[in-house]
Amino acid sequence: MHKPLLAVLKGDHAASPPIWMMRQAGRYLPEYREVREKAGSFLDLCFNPELAAEVTLQPLRRFGFDGAILFSDILVVPHALGQTVSFEVGEGPRLDPLGDAAGLSRLSDALEPSVVGKVYEAVARIKEQLPETTTLIGFCGAPWTVATYMVAGRGGDDQVAARLFAYRDPEGFSRLIDLIVEASISYLLGQIRAGVEVVQIFDTWAGVLPNAQFAKWTVEPIGRIAAGVKAVAPQIPVIVFPKGAGHRLSAIVADTGADAVGLDWTADPGFITHAVLPHVAVQGNVDPIALLAGGHALDHAVDTVLRSYGGGRLIFNLGHGILPPTPIAHVEQMVRRVRSWRAAQ
Ligand code: CP3
Repeated sequence: MHKPLLAVLKGDHAASPPIWMMRQAGRYLPEYREVREKAGSFLDLCFNPELAAEVTLQPLRRFGFDGAILFSDILVVPHALGQTVSFEVGEGPRLDPLGDAAGLSRLSDALEPSVVGKVYEAVARIKEQLPETTTLIGFCGAPWTVATYMVAGRGGDDQVAARLFAYRDPEGFSRLIDLIVEASISYLLGQIRAGVEVVQIFDTWAGVLPNAQFAKWTVEPIGRIAAGVKAVAPQIPVIVFPKGAGHRLSAIVADTGADAVGLDWTADPGFITHAVLPHVAVQGNVDPIALLAGGHALDHAVDTVLRSYGGGRLIFNLGHGILPPTPIAHVEQMVRRVRSWRAAQ
């Protein structure tokens, strides 16, 4: 069966681009909020294969997206390495912070199988129920972004704690990055064995790094993960989303082996068209705030993405995750507009 999203990743130009949304399973959907309440905590939901499969499939039923993304979180990896992780309502994730290299001794050197096994079980259940034209996307966080949460114990704050650790003790920080690289390869291969067809690596905090550190902590470890996955599963496309990378997307394209890159909403279309689109597929990049605003602003944002990249290998998406207060009608408006557009031949 033809899978439009997978086809673009493997080299096709689609006249009408495939579409999905980052965070498409989430709090803007009443049916998600209902399951979430039933599950207990957010992590309870991630580790309940039946309910995780259900919330993964919810947005497909409403919007008919071309991609389904496994419902889980990038912080499952630290949790499965033995770090305490919790999600406080309205506050985001909280981890028992590593602080510095001494904190590494509290971690295991491999993922706990009983923890990640629940995620793989969710993948298998999703695969059984997946519409035949939909592509199933697995994911992990990039080592740099995951490390920022592991070191500081939380997000925000310009990732000061991890940057400080990396400046003061580059060797100790390298050991943490290496641990996350190995765990991520094993985690993605587990998802692939269970049935995912594409993997995405989320580097949400790539943009805060100076150039030299961007090469060392973002590009190089992501390249190792992509190579580790492709060594075992060469047929699986890899999407890399280095948020805030700007013109440094060139290094991601040249040096990681990515089949596609995710663009955030600040991407410069002139640069992307001449330096990125000739080499890989691009995914993005409507501003989630334009989706929240709706109306003409949303139509304009959708048209700009289609006109800028729709002549090439485009996977239509947002520039970051959908925000919880976004009206469902705005998502419907966006999907209708993308579905009715055709690239000039
Ligand atoms: O639909 C999907 O995109 C799949 C599921 C998914 C989640 N998190 C579910 C989630 C994915 C791919 C992620 C990735 C993730 N998690 C990233 C990278 C992408 C990004 O958004 O930048 C990061 C940095 C995290 C860490 C994380 N998880 C944060 C910072 C938060 C709190 C912020 C928030 O939105 O509340 C989470 C919680 C989280 N992960 C929720 C969901 C649906 C909301 C929790 C809830 O339902 O109570």
